[in-house]
Amino acid sequence: MFESITPRPPDAILGLTAAFLADPNPNKVDLGVGVYKDEQGRTPIMRSIKAAEKKLWESEDTKTYIAQAGPDLYNTHSSRLILGDNHPVLRDQRAMTVLAPGGSGALRLGAEFINRMKSGTRIWVSNPTWANHTGLFKSAGLNPEPHPYYNYAAHVIDFDAMMDTLGKQATVGDLVLLHGCCHNPSGADLNMDQWRAVCALAQKNGFTPYVDLAYQGLGDGVDEDAAGLRHLAENLPELVIASSYSKNFGLYRERVGVLTIVHEQASQVAATKSQVLATAREIYSVPPAHGAALVAMVLDTPELRADWAVELADMRDRINGLRQMLADKLKAAGASRDFSFIPAEKGMFSFLGLTRDQVQRMIKEYSIYLTDNSRINVAGLNSQNVEHLVKAILGVL
Ligand code: LMR
Repeated sequence: MFESITPRPPDAILGLTAAFLADPNPNKVDLGVGVYKDEQGRTPIMRSIKAAEKKLWESEDTKTYIAQAGPDLYNTHSSRLILGDNHPVLRDQRAMTVLAPGGSGALRLGAEFINRMKSGTRIWVSNPTWANHTGLFKSAGLNPEPHPYYNYAAHVIDFDAMMDTLGKQATVGDLVLLHGCCHNPSGADLNMDQWRAVCALAQKNGFTPYVDLAYQGLGDGVDEDAAGLRHLAENLPELVIASSYSKNFGLYRERVGVLTIVHEQASQVAATKSQVLATAREIYSVPPAHGAALVAMVLDTPELRADWAVELADMRDRINGLRQMLADKLKAAGASRDFSFIPAEKGMFSFLGLTRDQVQRMIKEYSIYLTDNSRINVAGLNSQNVEHLVKAILGVL
């Protein structure tokens, strides 16, 4: 059975971690996988999470399965965090919210569910998009199709081309994947006018947006980063949202995510929920409990929630400070290119705008690890390694 299997090349993002760890160079820099790092290069457990873990350790008295949809407290707080406390969708009870194993698990669960309802559904994805989106949707049976999004040379969103493609081709029964904030890999987000224009197009053409919200709070703020999707939820009959607590609660390995599906009528929610849970049953059966219990506890305990908000703001400010520092240092070092787009972009990622060959030189000659498309995890920078990065960029340019 297994004798003819051939190996696959390493994953475009996760494969970099193994290569980084194997590199003996003491000056190596890991700008690959999108995890937050502090000035010391560590990915710490947040204080609020540590405190919640202590409380949970003391109070948890069983490891039996949790409800398939996840704890009510978790789902209630999650939908308020995503949509905002007084959103009309919540008031009218038009949203179905379930716990899913991470943002990827939520994306996959939503995709599998939709594929069961309408096999081979087309899903428009930005070019470029997260390296795993296309494979994830394809393996669920959906049919991903790229639309223009980012102009690599100019470092701007090619919004006219995006709207032209979607306007002509995205239609009733299609999904359009939108990055809620902190676009991965470009860091270039739609502004509010552009969200409104996409929303108007969805109303006109009848497609359904599928929002991937993996970095809420790491761009401009918790509410600011959800403003675009909240506008969609207010103005469209249907919407799908896959969200993640990996980054904004630092719960990467605990796999904590949420799938939210907004309906036109509250009466439709129960049927969808039963189908989604039947889908989940056949994939992973019941979701993991630990991370969701922590998120629910932090969001439900005023002191922990306040501390979490401070910690999240610190992470966001640090990333934004690093963006500015990198651009300033490149300019001061006499870079022949303008890197002022870096502080204008949001979240963990930006493209350096290098060719594949230049990226390979960054890795081989400077031991700086970044993805093939020259995406860097800005959070991997610190005051110790930034000069080395600047030298490397100037060197390969
Ligand atoms: C990334 O893009 O680096 C993160 O979303 C982590 C991952 O799973 O790829």
